[in-house]
Amino acid sequence: MIKIVTVIGARPQFIKAAPVNQAFKASGGILEKIIHTGQHFDNNMSRVFFEQMNIPEPDFNLDIHSLPHGAMTGRMTEAIEKILIDEKPEWLLVYGDTNSTLAGALAASKLKIPVAHVEAGLRSFNMEMPEEINRCITDRISRLLFCPTPVAVENLKNEGFSGKNSRIVLSGDVMYDASIIFREKAKKPAEMSLPGEYVLATVHRAENTDDVIKLKNIVKALNTVSERLPVVLPLHPRTRKLLKEPGIPALSDNIIVTGPVGYLEILYLLDNCRLLLTDSGGMQKEACFFEKACVTLREETEWTELVDAGYNKLAGSDPDLIYSSFEHFSENPPGFGRKLYGSGRAAEEITRSLLM
Ligand code: UD1
Ligand code: UDP
Repeated sequence: MIKIVTVIGARPQFIKAAPVNQAFKASGGILEKIIHTGQHFDNNMSRVFFEQMNIPEPDFNLDIHSLPHGAMTGRMTEAIEKILIDEKPEWLLVYGDTNSTLAGALAASKLKIPVAHVEAGLRSFNMEMPEEINRCITDRISRLLFCPTPVAVENLKNEGFSGKNSRIVLSGDVMYDASIIFREKAKKPAEMSLPGEYVLATVHRAENTDDVIKLKNIVKALNTVSERLPVVLPLHPRTRKLLKEPGIPALSDNIIVTGPVGYLEILYLLDNCRLLLTDSGGMQKEACFFEKACVTLREETEWTELVDAGYNKLAGSDPDLIYSSFEHFSENPPGFGRKLYGSGRAAEEITRSLLM
């Protein structure tokens, strides 16, 4: 039996950790201890995922959130270090590219505890993004690099990862695993009256929400789209706050605004929408799992295979481009012939590699 300490803290990490936790349990060879940094803390940003996805209660909850990057990452690193000194795990496991990811990887690597990074090799090539900084550094100090796609493997090779200090594994995408496991449990959000046809939209990226002009343009675009089809908009708390800033236009009445919904509810909303408008990393892929076209509200994406396959169009925050991309996909829905994210058994591959 080996001991693995997992560090998670943000909504996408709970989703990614769920199938891996199931695979760990099924293997019978791994004792997993979970640290929740507390980065996401509202019930609908955290607890709901543990309940719906049957993730064990965290062994440690650091309750660190709502801080600037340095303070958040620093306090998390300090607290994780203390736990790792006591726990002495064989591996430290992190997911994705948040401040919680970086804190976990930093604390462990300085203690010479090997780091395994799920969702390694993703690159936007935009170093202005906090996530790009987090993922580049995390990859650099990880021993096992679980890449979801061949593009991610290529990115690491291009950066000189040669296999000398770390091992690259093309595992497939654990979010694909999660969508397969939980799809049949998808459920309509309670008390939401849903139109027969709608566009699903989410917005939360710092580069969109913290920039008044971009946020204004995105709202303008959503309002225009909503003249053609109702828009369902589950709002991230960050966006909810910033939409109240001066200069941001009001959302039109044809936009159905709700708080963040649970995982089973977002799967339902995706499965039943006409198409998706989003700046989310995870939801770009989930759109593909559900064979929905995606207009991405960013200038670039880490998931370039979606764009290459014709399933995703990058529209940034340009209202005209967002609208024309929406129109294009409404009239020409792509055929989803290609499987881009593995076999749906990424969690098993990750478990096997950790046990080797
Ligand atoms: C973080 C990640 C981002 C990821 C996103 C997933 C970093 C740098 N960013 O962004 O990569 O895409 O999570 O959703 O790690 N808030 C609440 N309640 C919550 C959670 C957050 O009110 O449950 C508020 C915080 O107080 C803060 C704001 O939302 O004011 C932003 O939260 P933070 O965790 O810093 O960043 P995210 O935008 O969520
Ligand atoms: N999600 C959810 N409820 C919502 C919005 C999103 O359950 O209201 C899920 C969805 O599966 C998505 C994941 O949370 O892929 C990650 O969300 P987010 O967009 O916040 O993060 P990112 O993937 O951009 O880091």
